[in-house]
Amino acid sequence: MKRMLTGLQPTGVITLGNYIGAIKQMVKYQDEYESFLFVADLHAITVPKEGLNLKKNTKDLIALYLACGIDPKKNTIFVQSQNEYHTNLSWVLECNTYFGELSRMHQFKEKSKGKENFTAGLFTYPVLMASDIIIYDADYVPVGVDQKQHVEIARDVAQRFNNKYGDTFVVPEPVISTTGTKIMDLLDPTKKMSKSSENQNGVIRLLDEPEVIRKKIMRATTDSEMEVRYDEENKPGISNLINIYASLTGKEIKEIEEEFAGSNYGTFKKAVADVVVSEIEKIQERYNKYLNGNEIDEILRNGANKTRLYAKAKYEAVKNKIGFYN
Ligand code: TYM
Repeated sequence: MKRMLTGLQPTGVITLGNYIGAIKQMVKYQDEYESFLFVADLHAITVPKEGLNLKKNTKDLIALYLACGIDPKKNTIFVQSQNEYHTNLSWVLECNTYFGELSRMHQFKEKSKGKENFTAGLFTYPVLMASDIIIYDADYVPVGVDQKQHVEIARDVAQRFNNKYGDTFVVPEPVISTTGTKIMDLLDPTKKMSKSSENQNGVIRLLDEPEVIRKKIMRATTDSEMEVRYDEENKPGISNLINIYASLTGKEIKEIEEEFAGSNYGTFKKAVADVVVSEIEKIQERYNKYLNGNEIDEILRNGANKTRLYAKAKYEAVKNKIGFYN
């Protein structure tokens, strides 16, 4: 059975973008693949964030995974920092990754821009991410398009290691859904919807009140035309809403354009708000049950035990290939 893996950072309540880009895809494929889903808490400290409550955010995120339909029987759910082999392997991989490669990463360039004191961890972030993936021989990695470059570097590093030391790692592939590869900010549809956005009116969070979600969608930036038509360049706001609607209903873009031919933007926005609210309300109903229940600790204990065994075996194999004393 092929393996699929992804992780999300516990840096706050996740957005509709995180849900569509990563979690929804994990739910979709969980019957087909052996699945691993984790909390990327080590990545969450690469950019210092005041008041970050990792313990609380981690538990909240696991409750959200479950509420979104991630089945703990079909997924191995774990916390990255509970498995030290990820960081052990990451060092070895760093010694097989070039400075130039890491310097070219879009995320690094964007997050370090204009800053004097960004961390070395921000720079080596993609190597730890490569380690997260290849330590389990994951075949597929569902991510939003913003993380595609990082999965590509994981491929390059895995291939490089295999060429140098002999076949060791499976070379992973990113899995990016055709719609919703990048959900954009509702107020500024030229930038991605992000947890850390300054104006939260452009961001839908999975725990926002339904009425708040409706207001945010109704106020989303559009354009001066009157036509519900997909055109990312000239109509980024409407195209973004079409992507959201397509991702949540499973409809094709063409079908949506036909459905709303002749409708005004208000009618279309209301339809988008209805599907978003209906999907998110279901998640919210289940969320509190999981958060207040006692399953999470056991799920994470099992996840840590299982993944530590897998990861240890791979790390030992790597050490042998390199020729470390043992
Ligand atoms: P994070 O928490 O920043 O993002 C989690 C996932 O959400 C996707 N995403 C989006 N997708 C569509 N539209 C958006 N606006 C949007 N915003 C975020 C991201 O692409 C990502 O898939 N580096 C990872 C965490 C990670 C990881 C890994 C992922 C660490 N190790 C190994 C996969 C495999 C990240 O960006 O987390």
